[in-house]
Amino acid sequence: MLQLTPHLKARLATPLKIGALEINSRVLQSPLSGVTDLVFRRLVRRYAPESMLYTEMVHASRLQHLKEIPIIMEIDPNERPVSIQLFDCRPHFLAEAAQKAVAEGADTVDINMGCPVNKITRKGGGSSLLRQPEVAEEIVREIVKAVDVPVTVKTRIGWDDAEITILDFALRMQDAGAQMITIHGRTRAQGYTGNARWEWIGKVKRVLDIPVIANGDIFSVESAARCLEETGADGVMCSRGTLGYPFLVGEIDYFLKTGEILAAPTLIQRLECAKEHLEALYEYKGERGIYQARKHMAWYAKGFVGASDLRGELNKIETVKQGVELLDKAIDKLATGYEVIEEKEVVMSQ
Ligand SMILES: Cc1cc2nc3c(=O)[nH]c(=O)nc-3n(C[C@H](O)[C@H](O)[C@H](O)COP(=O)(O)O)c2cc1C
Repeated sequence: MLQLTPHLKARLATPLKIGALEINSRVLQSPLSGVTDLVFRRLVRRYAPESMLYTEMVHASRLQHLKEIPIIMEIDPNERPVSIQLFDCRPHFLAEAAQKAVAEGADTVDINMGCPVNKITRKGGGSSLLRQPEVAEEIVREIVKAVDVPVTVKTRIGWDDAEITILDFALRMQDAGAQMITIHGRTRAQGYTGNARWEWIGKVKRVLDIPVIANGDIFSVESAARCLEETGADGVMCSRGTLGYPFLVGEIDYFLKTGEILAAPTLIQRLECAKEHLEALYEYKGERGIYQARKHMAWYAKGFVGASDLRGELNKIETVKQGVELLDKAIDKLATGYEVIEEKEVVMSQ
């Protein structure tokens, strides 16, 4: 039976304190570009009523050229606590964007200092800030001055194996005024490959006063518990484990609060959830929502004979009706005893 050590259990039973903000959950839904829109967050929220959820990352200087606030910054007052994540490398644009984020209802403003994508690092944003710690410090200081909600940072352990700089970097972020840091235990060079090196997260936790959130390879209740034991972190953030599985944050949260493991949703319940996700995306975004839904549908459709064919078909849907029909057909087959196969871990890259 999975159990946390009594000391860890007692520590995690208290709220997560991010500056003056108290969150009654130690599990967070990560920002995922192209995924964690309002529709997805509503599904996560249903199973994790108290966890902090993150928007997709928002390009701060782009906001200067937009007349209206973009849809990715939209927060439903009923889904809070929610953090808006920003990326850029120019402190004054980030500070202005942070003010807009707070006006939209963000409970915290998070700065992306971990994105490995060339298009972003070439311009000085994302993980390239690990190589410009002075700029990263200035960014945090400027935003802290500009807003009255906690400012947080999400980053990686370093640029590559020769530059694992997270200990110094995290201390700098704390000194600049960050109220929490989330660490993805991989270098920029690793991208999403290899294991997340949780040992570095543990090292940071031992020297920082602000909360440290562990991220990377949290795919189940078991991995979350192991990560919390190994790192001593103040919480865990789920990422790829939630693709096609908006239940994960809630499952971990439930375990940390009760010590019990919830029964996993059945394949039929997962496909029902896929249908709801598709319909809600269409309602929220129109035609564009259907194209975005294709990848989500493929993430939901796994673990049974015929799943791969279904994924191929779902990937081509042009209308909600087509998607619903395909999913209903699969649900009918599962209900009449279709064979279930071993789950394979889905490895995604951005
Ligand atoms: C599709 C996708 C989109 C992502 N978008 C963001 C993002 O917008 N902001 C961010 O900080 N990290 C982003 N990430 C990184 C994740 O938040 C997380 O740090 C990473 O996937 C490691 O966790 P995992 O091993 O549990 O997936 C993204 C990752 C994926 C796979």
